[in-house]
Amino acid sequence: MTTTAEGGAGATVLLLSGPNLNLLGEREPAVYGTATLQEHVATAAAAAAPYGLTLEHVQSNHEGDLVEAVHGARGRAAAIIVNAGALSHTSWSLHDALAAFDGVVVELHLSNPAAREPFRHTSVIAPVADGCIAGFGGLGYRLAVDAVHQLLTPPPVADG
Ligand code: DQA
Repeated sequence: MTTTAEGGAGATVLLLSGPNLNLLGEREPAVYGTATLQEHVATAAAAAAPYGLTLEHVQSNHEGDLVEAVHGARGRAAAIIVNAGALSHTSWSLHDALAAFDGVVVELHLSNPAAREPFRHTSVIAPVADGCIAGFGGLGYRLAVDAVHQLLTPPPVADG
């Protein structure tokens, strides 16, 4: 498991990366692009900093590590951005952990799973996420941070 912290002061956003995402850059570049996970994390951290959000990143190939990372975010992080890789389609334990997290949850995929093999069409994370960003490649990391910022920003109070 790899954990890093990047970004400015303020609310914490946990970026969770699941199995095989550590191989980005080498892994099926025609599907997932040529950028490395480190580069995507840097994109997310750079997007988070102007909003005063501090980005933490955890990548693991082990389901239990991801569950523990979600537990560790409870009461501490304001939001979780989760690209759970193939665990998105199978992990009810990650579903349950995210259900026990009180903050914003954004599901993220580089590819568009809905346009791929049938086993990728179901996400068991989706029911406990506020929304999903998929199919935009590395841009999705920036869009996910933008979504978190919007969801964490209270609407202006109307005058009168
Ligand atoms: C993925 C899509 C999943 O179906 C796949 O198992 C991955 C990556 C994506 O980012 O497109 O590992 O989450």
